[in-house]
Amino acid sequence: MDLSIIVPTFNEGPNVDELLRRIGTALDGRVFEVVFVDDSTDDTAAIIAAAASRFPFPVRVLHRDVATAGLGGAVVEGFRAATSRWCLVMDGDLQHPPEDIPRMIERAERGDVDIVIASRYASGGTSGGLADATRTAVSRVSTSLTKAMFPRKLAGCTDPMTGFFLLDTDAVDVEALRPRGFKILLEVLARRQLRVDEVPFDFAQRYAGRSKATFTQGVRFLTQLAMLRFGRMSAFALVGGFGAIANLVIMWGLIRLGLDYVPAAVIASAVTIVTNFFLLEYLVFADMRSESGRMRSRFLKSTTFNGLEAIIRIPVLSVLVEGAHVPAVLAAALTLIAAFVVRFMFHALIVYAPKRTRRAAAVASTAAAVAPGRTLEP
Ligand code: GDD
Ligand code: MN
Repeated sequence: MDLSIIVPTFNEGPNVDELLRRIGTALDGRVFEVVFVDDSTDDTAAIIAAAASRFPFPVRVLHRDVATAGLGGAVVEGFRAATSRWCLVMDGDLQHPPEDIPRMIERAERGDVDIVIASRYASGGTSGGLADATRTAVSRVSTSLTKAMFPRKLAGCTDPMTGFFLLDTDAVDVEALRPRGFKILLEVLARRQLRVDEVPFDFAQRYAGRSKATFTQGVRFLTQLAMLRFGRMSAFALVGGFGAIANLVIMWGLIRLGLDYVPAAVIASAVTIVTNFFLLEYLVFADMRSESGRMRSRFLKSTTFNGLEAIIRIPVLSVLVEGAHVPAVLAAALTLIAAFVVRFMFHALIVYAPKRTRRAAAVASTAAAVAPGRTLEP
């Protein structure tokens, strides 16, 4: 297999030599090129150009004066410039060990996949190189949220946020990609259903220099998610909004009929929880029903969850208002938003999880991260 290795760089000068040296050793005897797509504001491009002549394989550097779409844009530019159909994307800071590339190539050469993803979260992989506990938590939560939003397309992928993967560019429409910021793999996977497999890897410490990840990158990632996934999520929100209104109308009607407000609220909630399930079943998750086991078990999970949520939300609200002195309306809004997000994740990852496939295991492992201690059906 001929290979183009695409390395996006932003001020990574001190890493260049070591990266090329380790790539050369790891891929000794293979045919490949290395394409750096550089947006640096320092002399990284010159360092790469100088290093190129010291290695026995082709090394090119494309320097962009305008860093359109950042890291993701650079990778797409790399796909365009690549001479090989198969492109390996990796970071320029050695957090992605070049020694893992041969295993990825060997997996791809079996011929039954469009992409091989190096995963920190597949069993055997590690994410030790993440800066600290906060970064680890952010990575875990955003991975779960992303998988909840694309339960099908990401079913075979435990690490949609990794920047280390080997792609058959013939399997994607490169010009249709709309990269925004850091998460190019998500863009690739969300556009088209690809045949995915993973190899675990150990996410290493940075060799030199500093990370370019910022809070702004995080916000950009959330926008990307919302744009890619407007469909299912907004339908889910619509059903939820409809349920909330129905709940109030029923409660109002029952009180008019002479019922006390507590039983009225209980009946209204029960009715909307059940209707809500059928709306989800036939509107929001219609395409996932056939693969996700029996309806009775989905019904039980969904209604139990919503019932518990209704019971738990009220005391949480009072703790926020009485204990933390959050204004009541703001506190109610916060609990509703949190409940909405958790409810969506629970339904997408657990209630409608595909059953009895290899994919189910991948979904289950992330679902377990969302709800520790929860066991799933085989
Ligand atoms: N061309 C270009 N343009 N490259 C960039 C830019 C940019 O605007 N921003 C960052 N890079 C390059 C860096 O130079 C590095 O080679 C690579 O992209 C990753 O950037 P880091 O600064 O090392 O970010 P990170 O370690 O936080 O993020 C990495 O880990 C994430 C998983 O936690 C990246 O691999 C992400 O893609 C990955 O999702
Ligand atoms: Mn890095």
